[in-house]
Formats: sequence, structure tokens, C-alpha cells
Amino acid sequence: MKRNSKTSVAVITGVSSGLGRALAQCFHHNGFRVVGISRSQPDIDLDLWVCADVTNPEDRARAVRETEAFAGSVDVLINNAGKGLYDTWEESSMEELKALFELNFFAVAGMTQAFLPLLKRSRGTVINISSAAGRIWVFCMGAYCASKAAVSMFSNSLRGEVARYGVRVLDVSPGQINTGFSSRSFGHRSPPDSPGRSAGPEDFAKAVYRAWKRGRKSMTYPGWLGAALFAVRYFVPGIYNHFSLKMWGLK
Ligand SMILES: NC(=O)c1ccc[n+]([C@@H]2O[C@H](COP(=O)([O-])OP(=O)(O)OC[C@H]3O[C@@H](n4cnc5c(N)ncnc54)[C@H](OP(=O)(O)O)[C@@H]3O)[C@@H](O)[C@H]2O)c1
Repeated sequence: MKRNSKTSVAVITGVSSGLGRALAQCFHHNGFRVVGISRSQPDIDLDLWVCADVTNPEDRARAVRETEAFAGSVDVLINNAGKGLYDTWEESSMEELKALFELNFFAVAGMTQAFLPLLKRSRGTVINISSAAGRIWVFCMGAYCASKAAVSMFSNSLRGEVARYGVRVLDVSPGQINTGFSSRSFGHRSPPDSPGRSAGPEDFAKAVYRAWKRGRKSMTYPGWLGAALFAVRYFVPGIYNHFSLKMWGLK
């Protein structure tokens, strides 16, 4: 399918920091008009900023109205806004669990439903930012893992349902990326220092843009991570459990 990114429109949630901010800059750099959504004002140039809480259905409906008035249709919707939760299941309160799923899962489904009419007009793409943590359990992050596994299942089932409208779905599962994400998360624990150097948000954004251009259905970032997660999950889960329980001080 030929795409003219000069006139394309991307709606991106969570543009005030981290991955959403980098995605907004990357799509803008590649000729998109970018509609950014967040609660606090971003420090980057956007074609339109909608101050909205994506967990609020009225805010989502207003974001659709403002986007429609601005652009008429949407080529790419990136559901990026999300948070972590660092607690064991035993420590997690029901309020925190519900707040996590409200943002990480229900807002993703709600935004997609709300924007689907505009996406259908341009045979656009839904890009959902899931996580590597949706592909393997992580201790003290079980609720976050569950919310991201739900996002990936949402993406993978939605894909077939909206194909008849020419709408595509890209499921994105990043590993750890340096954004300060854990300092803005729910819960009471802090993640232990993980080995190796985290990737930067700018390279991640370029990889997502490339995956969208190539019409891919899913991607992990970095690329080798998918195979590594598969190997750990199916061949050495006991070793993984042993070392990560120790890392979290649970053994
Ligand atoms: N960083 C990582 O290592 C990593 C790895 C895997 C997956 N992810 C996923 O990537 C996404 C972005 O993470 P990040 O690291 O960029 O996090 P971040 O730096 O904390 O950014 C989160 C963004 O979401 C927005 N947001 C939060 N609650 C919102 C709400 N109710 N309504 C609207 N916007 C809201 C925040 O803006 P306001 O507070 O201004 O609203 C902010 O712009 C998340 O879904 C995360 O789970 C991150």
C-alpha cells in the first residue's frame, strides 16, 4: 500500500514524556501531523495537543471531536500512555490493580473504539505499546505483566476483526528503555538495577516507525529480545525464577 506520510495524521497518547514524546518527534520528523494527548503539557512542538485523561470516556470522546475537527481522519493511533506497578500480588491493593488496568488496558480498548471511525476513513493503523513483561512473568510486576498481556491479546484479536476495514494493528513489546518510567509507577517497591545498558527512547521510536512502514504485525524491541524471552520461558524457567526471585529479595 502506498502511503503519503506528508499528509498523514498520527494520534499519540502519553506525549509529555518518555516513549510517547520520542514517538511524537519521530513521526513529526517523518512528515506526519501529530496530535498528542497527555494530562500535562509536553515540551515539544505538536500540531495539536489535547489535554486529556485517557481513562476518562468523556475526555476520549472530546479527543476524537478535536482530532476530527483538526484532521478529519487518522492514519496512525498509538496507544502508548501507561504505568508500571511494583508490588507483589500480596501487597497490591484492589484500588491500585483497578487503576492500573483502567490506564494500561481499558483506556487502550476505549481509545481504539473511540477512534475506529476516523481510522476506518483512512484505512489506518492501531499501534499498541505493550511490553516484554506481557510475554514473560516478572516478580513484583505481576499485575503490570497481566495488564500488558491483555494489551497484546487485545491487539492480536482486534487485528483480524478490523482487517475487513483495511485497518492494521501493530503490537509492540519493548524491553527496558531509559525513561524514568519506574519513578512514575504505582506500588511501593523499586526495581533492582538490571544488568546491561538500557536503550534510549529515540532509537525505539525509529524502530516503531520502521515496523509501521513495513506493515509488520508485531515487534519486540530490541529485536533479539523475542527469541531470548522464548528461550527463557520454555527452556530455563527454573533458572530464571531462581535468579529473579533473588534479585527482588524474595528468596
Ligand atoms: N520505559 C520502559 O522501559 C517501557 C518498557 C516496556 C513498555 N513500556 C510502556 O511504554 C509506555 C510509555 O512508557 P514510558 O516509559 O514512556 O513512561 P513515562 O515516561 O512515564 O510516560 C508515560 C506517559 O503517559 C502519560 N499518561 C499517564 N497517565 C495518563 C492518563 N491517565 N491520561 C493521559 N496520559 C497519561 C503521561 O503523561 P501525563 O502524566 O502528562 O498525563 C506520560 O506522557 C507505557 O505504556 C509503558 O508501559 C515502557
